[in-house]
Amino acid sequence: MRRSAKGNVGILERDKALHRIVYISKGQSMEFNRLIMPEQKLEEAKVENNLRPQVLADYVGQEKTVEKLKIFIDAAKIRSEALDHVLLYGPPGLGKTTLAQIIANEMDADIKITSGPAIERPGDLAAILSNLKPGDVLFIDEIHRLNRLVEEVLYPAMEDCALDIMIGKGQGAKSVRIDLAKFTLVGATTRAGMLTSPLRDRFGVICKLDLYNNQDLTKIVKRSAGIMDIVIDDSAALEIARRSRGTPRIVNRLLKRVSDYSLVKYDGNINKEIADAALEMLEIDELGLDLVDRKLLLALAEKFDGGPVGISNIAANIGEARETIEDVYEPYLMQIGFIARTPRGRVMLRRAYQHLGIEVLMQDNSEQLSLES
Ligand SMILES: Nc1ncnc2c1ncn2[C@@H]1O[C@H](COP(=O)(O)OP(=O)(O)OP(=O)(O)O)[C@@H](O)[C@H]1O
Ligand SMILES: [Mg+2]
Repeated sequence: MRRSAKGNVGILERDKALHRIVYISKGQSMEFNRLIMPEQKLEEAKVENNLRPQVLADYVGQEKTVEKLKIFIDAAKIRSEALDHVLLYGPPGLGKTTLAQIIANEMDADIKITSGPAIERPGDLAAILSNLKPGDVLFIDEIHRLNRLVEEVLYPAMEDCALDIMIGKGQGAKSVRIDLAKFTLVGATTRAGMLTSPLRDRFGVICKLDLYNNQDLTKIVKRSAGIMDIVIDDSAALEIARRSRGTPRIVNRLLKRVSDYSLVKYDGNINKEIADAALEMLEIDELGLDLVDRKLLLALAEKFDGGPVGISNIAANIGEARETIEDVYEPYLMQIGFIARTPRGRVMLRRAYQHLGIEVLMQDNSEQLSLES
């Protein structure tokens, strides 16, 4: 793995939000590392950050999570204590990073942001932890990817606000305990199942984020359009929402692309016809499925007879990583009842055949078969 000359800490500091945000990373997966991020990605990341709600009141949807957090944040404030550690989990693009920043804002705290794979050695994490001030929020994205040794540093830190450090080697080695400031760890993961139970058990608040409904997504389209100075009518906003697979990040991306389309062909504003035409150009169908979804479903139907088939087989067949299929594509396909997970593998469901227009073909075949016999 690559190590930067400076080690782990402090690639970029940003002071635009209500409070100071420090990104701690060697760059692998951080959103804001100029060293590795191509210009276009950086631009997208900037737009994404501008669209992020800063306070709970602006956070659309996820009512249960918001209500829970509001109560615990208020309670922590009344007690003048740091908020208990929070674990956020759910598919990509649903607002985990956003919520972490909101938690810091609501707690009136600074936030330090890093991610599981960016912390290679226990010493790296110890350095981050010992630099936290009372009340600080430490956000660890992709927390399921922390390695085991690093994770063990977190246990006493989360439980007793302490670091256990070994001094010396062999027989003369002794363990010294160092007190840390009372901080709040916010962990985010797309795969809660991959967290070890000692880690999961140390979070006081666990929130699952669900895919958004069209009403909430429509609100997000309108909110983002407002921020980006785009005029959009209600039916166009709903259309973009309907095709965004329950995901705010996709809603924002489609809004941007549709507005680009309008800017070149019309005046930058969006009505239903423009939205439809732009989305068609982007090859996103009326359910929000894109080329990869269709490739996956077609492979399931044609190469594997609708399953059951193991996820690795599908992955190899369509040339996508297994994790990407599990995290990005499957949640939505399952939610709309197109595929199901069974103990023997993935199966394709009737609605998917109908959507692909394959059922007609099967009926034709069976009619043909019965005619032949
Ligand atoms: N509840 C919400 N209300 C309004 N906008 C939202 C909401 N949730 C997310 N967004 C928008 O969606 C975008 C993606 O959100 P965010 O980066 O927080 O997702 P994430 O869950 O951290 O994704 P990943 O798992 O890929 O890190 C942000 O730009 C944000 O503006
Ligand atoms: Mg994130």
